[in-house]
Amino acid sequence: MSSDNQGAGPEGDRRQVTVLFADLVGFTAFSERFGEEAAYKLMQRIAKLMREAVQGHGGAVRSFTGDGIMALFGVPQALEDAPLRACRAALLMQEQLAARAAEIETIYGVRPQLRIGINTGTAVVGRIDGEDGGGATALGDAINLAARLQALAQPSTIVLSAATHRLVEGMVESHFVGTREIKGKSEPQRIFQLNALRKGAVRFDAALSRGLTTYIGRDRELETLERLLAEARSGLRVIDVSGEPGIGKSRLVYEFYQRLAKTRAFALSGSCAPDGQQTPFLPFIEVVRGSFRVAVGEAEAAVTSKLEDGLKVLGMASSRNLGLLLNLLGLKPPEGSLVGLDGTLIGLKTRDLLQQLLAERCSVSPVLMMLEDLHWIDSASEELLGKVIETGERLALMIVYSRRPEYRPPWQEEHSLTPLALEPLSGAEITRVVEAHLGADNFPEELARLVAEKAEGNALFAEEIVSFLLERSLIRREAGGIDFDAAALASALPASVQSLLSAASIDSRSATERFCKLPQ
Ligand SMILES: Nc1ncnc2c1ncn2[C@@H]1O[C@H](COP(=O)(O)OP(=O)(O)OP(=O)(O)O)[C@@H](O)[C@H]1O
Ligand SMILES: [Mg+2]
Repeated sequence: MSSDNQGAGPEGDRRQVTVLFADLVGFTAFSERFGEEAAYKLMQRIAKLMREAVQGHGGAVRSFTGDGIMALFGVPQALEDAPLRACRAALLMQEQLAARAAEIETIYGVRPQLRIGINTGTAVVGRIDGEDGGGATALGDAINLAARLQALAQPSTIVLSAATHRLVEGMVESHFVGTREIKGKSEPQRIFQLNALRKGAVRFDAALSRGLTTYIGRDRELETLERLLAEARSGLRVIDVSGEPGIGKSRLVYEFYQRLAKTRAFALSGSCAPDGQQTPFLPFIEVVRGSFRVAVGEAEAAVTSKLEDGLKVLGMASSRNLGLLLNLLGLKPPEGSLVGLDGTLIGLKTRDLLQQLLAERCSVSPVLMMLEDLHWIDSASEELLGKVIETGERLALMIVYSRRPEYRPPWQEEHSLTPLALEPLSGAEITRVVEAHLGADNFPEELARLVAEKAEGNALFAEEIVSFLLERSLIRREAGGIDFDAAALASALPASVQSLLSAASIDSRSATERFCKLPQ
């Protein structure tokens, strides 16, 4: 998806963007009381904080309204995780403002508060020459809705539209606020409040929390995984699951794990994250938590005693080992336990310790280690994994990892490795994915063909097309099946789904027309 990074053309492109509006509560009253100069000064400070939060997450501030901003994510470069980035930026803004609120209140006697609204949808994106250096801007309903959501938000809160919520669900903590009438929308809109991010969650978690539909196909891959797990009892097996975004890597690993009788292997899992390259051993933090049965947010004393006990069982108890593990989990190592070690040495010792721990654990019972999204792996984890794979051939260990094709791990020639490149699903399988998604089993043939053609064998694309069509009422669930208007549907679907998810060029004449007609 990230391959589509063309900028906005001069005539305007129709593409998916995430829009964030942030506005300072009671700014007008403030400037009446303190004068415009003081208001301007204060706003400068707050605007800087907002701008930094947006830019720090790959967004662009597109207009400054005097007491607030509009920011876009996914423009000019299409960003796959734009909705999540917007959420991160919004939370950071609230956090940063809260940190300065007391100081500002002491000076001005008012506590600054932000209302934030976020929406995701298609907008016409283009350059407006002469304005703000001629940068890309966006117009359309999706923008208007974000502005209205911001106005609905309670002070110090962040409101998400249903469309944004659907894309980040499972990756954030949020709650349903209610259904609201919104000017310009014929149907009442469901709105959600964003409260926090969930750590370590990826898009598949979002799919999981929405509820998975029936799993289709991939029998051969599941059989291969089963067979290799049996073989791993007598030696290392590494399975390299690769494929394009949305093709079904996470789902395959999940289904494999679900099918496995849990007693057959001790299972550990960890994920790499898009912004995780700076955190050494990020996926292994989760692995260590899993292997010592440490829960997220558990009290420090409880974690320490679990680590101590676990190290003892494996015959590896020492103050240094305990210190290294606590340090890895971001907790305070015991006094003196890491004395004489600098950052580099701590890294090396941690790597050796993790390797040894894994070996010891495999001698107790076979271990299945599932690592997700290796295209985002940090270098310390890559080195550790490389060492395990190079030297661990006698371990009763199965490593299953997923990666997108752009990343090629350095250990690909190792003989313990089995490549499992996921091919596109067949047209018939895509139809079944869609039927399961819709909860209907008599999907009209013509529609099935159209969706299968656009989905290019990608389950995520198929799901997105159906959501797109449902959201725009181009297909409707009727008691007797699915109702749709073939002509309207064919013209509404963009040329490729890639563009549905990121950017779409529409013919320049209609883009220009829309541009001229849209509200300011
Ligand atoms: N064989 C399948 N049958 C039904 N649904 C599927 C199948 N494969 C994938 N899906 C669904 O498609 C969506 C995308 O799949 P998944 O998250 O596994 O993709 P991925 O390859 O891991 O993508 P990424 O590289 O972005 O992590 C999920 O909602 C998943 O449940
Ligand atoms: Mg995945």
